[in-house]
Amino acid sequence: MLTELFTPKKIGSCTIPNRLVVPAMVTNYCTEDGMITERYIRYMEEKAKGGFGLLITEDYAVEEHGKGYKYIPGLYRDDQIEGSRQLTDRIHQYPSKIFCQIYHPGRQSSPAVNGGVQPIAPSPTKCPLCMSLAREMSVDEIQEMVKNFGNAAGRAKQAGFDGVEVHAAHGYLISSFLSPLINKRTDEYGGCFDNRVRFLDEIYAAVRKAVGEDFPVTVRFSRNEFVMGGRTEAETYELVRHMEELGFDGIHVTNGIYQSPPLGQAIGPMFLDHGFNMDVAEQIRKMVSIPVIVTNRINDPHMADTIIKMGKADFIGMGRGSITDPYLPEKARAGKFDQIRYCVACLQGCEMELFLGNCVTCLVNPSVGREYEDNLKAAAVSKKVMVIGGGPAGLMAAETAAKRGHKVTVYEAQDHLGGQFRSAAYPVGKGELATFVSSLRKSLEVLHVPVHLSTEVTEDLIKAEKPDAVVVATGARPLMPPIPGLDGSNVCTAEDVLLGRRDIPNGPVVVCGGGEVGGETAGFIAQTNHDVTILEMRDEILMDMMPVNKIVLMDLNHKAGVRVLTGAKVAEVENDGIVYTDKNGSRVKMPAALVVSAFGYKAYDPISEIAGKYCGEVCKIGCSVKAGNALTAVREGYEAGIKI
Ligand SMILES: Cc1cc2nc3c(=O)[nH]c(=O)nc-3n(C[C@H](O)[C@H](O)[C@H](O)COP(=O)(O)O)c2cc1C
Repeated sequence: MLTELFTPKKIGSCTIPNRLVVPAMVTNYCTEDGMITERYIRYMEEKAKGGFGLLITEDYAVEEHGKGYKYIPGLYRDDQIEGSRQLTDRIHQYPSKIFCQIYHPGRQSSPAVNGGVQPIAPSPTKCPLCMSLAREMSVDEIQEMVKNFGNAAGRAKQAGFDGVEVHAAHGYLISSFLSPLINKRTDEYGGCFDNRVRFLDEIYAAVRKAVGEDFPVTVRFSRNEFVMGGRTEAETYELVRHMEELGFDGIHVTNGIYQSPPLGQAIGPMFLDHGFNMDVAEQIRKMVSIPVIVTNRINDPHMADTIIKMGKADFIGMGRGSITDPYLPEKARAGKFDQIRYCVACLQGCEMELFLGNCVTCLVNPSVGREYEDNLKAAAVSKKVMVIGGGPAGLMAAETAAKRGHKVTVYEAQDHLGGQFRSAAYPVGKGELATFVSSLRKSLEVLHVPVHLSTEVTEDLIKAEKPDAVVVATGARPLMPPIPGLDGSNVCTAEDVLLGRRDIPNGPVVVCGGGEVGGETAGFIAQTNHDVTILEMRDEILMDMMPVNKIVLMDLNHKAGVRVLTGAKVAEVENDGIVYTDKNGSRVKMPAALVVSAFGYKAYDPISEIAGKYCGEVCKIGCSVKAGNALTAVREGYEAGIKI
């Protein structure tokens, strides 16, 4: 029962129709010279259609070389107003309000995204992630930058935004002035609290002057930087009092800077506690009388409602949750919780793609950023489609094709859906992955797509069904290299262990392969107090894993006592142990009560050739083509669904 989420509340003079806020998120959907695109407008419009109360734009540059990403919008020229006017007009067709976030990245940028211009900062320091030495700003430049913020805010008002959010979080320019970690100045902009906050004070004054007294101006800031020598909660509480005294109309609580450790990151990984900032937000709320927005790892409407009910915040920011499902508010309002596509915080499509310089996409919602292509329009002819394989790729293909009006049936050889995603949810901290398969299953039920479990598709079945199109999504199978003894009874696969098909005996366990699956399985086994060693042929383990997740897993495994041997090539499995050749080429025997094979995967496709004999349209997708990552597999499922 949601009692709070759908009640209106004011921020300054602006009434927000409900408590669900989309916080700012860079997409890279705009142009290099800071112009808004139809792609970005459609992406935002979807969230308004889906019922979010307040949308905050991605961070807008306030000056030409003030970009942390290449394709973000700006309001540093008058000709940029019109595009944003189209954006606000489009959003205002719905009850939602829209604020514009204005920012400068400071040292968290690089010449590569800013036309070769060196980043600037309060002091000449380097962000360990961006790795470009920043140049110290002169006092004249500081004062010029203050004017830039004011001018951008004035243009935002002209463009029809309902408010402006000043981005003073995440280690960007304003945040770096506040931080004793980055601000080493000895003039009036550095040193004591009053000096470090001066840049923000002056920006607030310039913004307020540009937009007038009645226009909502909020501020976003990091409650803790989680870096030694950085800002902590102790200063946060005096800072929020100061922000209220300045005249801000609302405070948006977030955390971290780029340099923060994985569990202090603003875009929290799946290992981070849900509602990570809520308790500090509650303390902040006690200090101020203006509304407080809290964000990071709150993606469940029940949790959001409860946080408000408990008085911890006035509004809930749901960033990635709005990417995975822009219709989350409407589904929650209608009580359709099992149809929500929840964020699993995998970071693969959003943060990782951005860092690679690409546009934002999403593992669980591959249609994001493609709304403008109108991919989901009804198919001209409704075809009979057989989807073979009920992993995420097959299910996504089935859902997409069914939404377009095709008559789809899913066939899965096993007695459950999910493919490799099922076992992927078992390692420590990854349980949320189960929500993806669960919501796809529900979606197919709503779309009346029959699902046949424990059904191996044969030539006879295809002949009998006479499909117009076949999607082959048979996935991958564990790779079993021709190593003597690997077929022994003391050997099993990572899936056998994770899915509880094989109990772990007393005695040492050896996991062969230090990729993501091997690393996670070793951690999983070690949690139940077993002695585990990973053998990896290469010089490093977890080489293909996302850096943030890798650091967390390494730490977890280290604490659980998992041993790692690199440069170790498995030569043979014996009844009581395993033999490997070490870096020097010497044969070494290790005792092992159980050997877990995690050598990787190979594509598995027993059916596409056969299907081709009876059907002119056969589409192979995901790991049945190439064992790889889930982001690609699910995207291919979506693309198959829109092509058929
Ligand atoms: C792809 C992406 C881009 C982001 N860009 C911004 C940004 O432009 N400004 C900002 O203040 N925060 C940005 N963030 C942080 C989000 O606003 C939010 O604080 C974070 O995702 C945690 O909230 P969530 O768990 O609800 O996603 C970004 C997050 C993501 C995933």
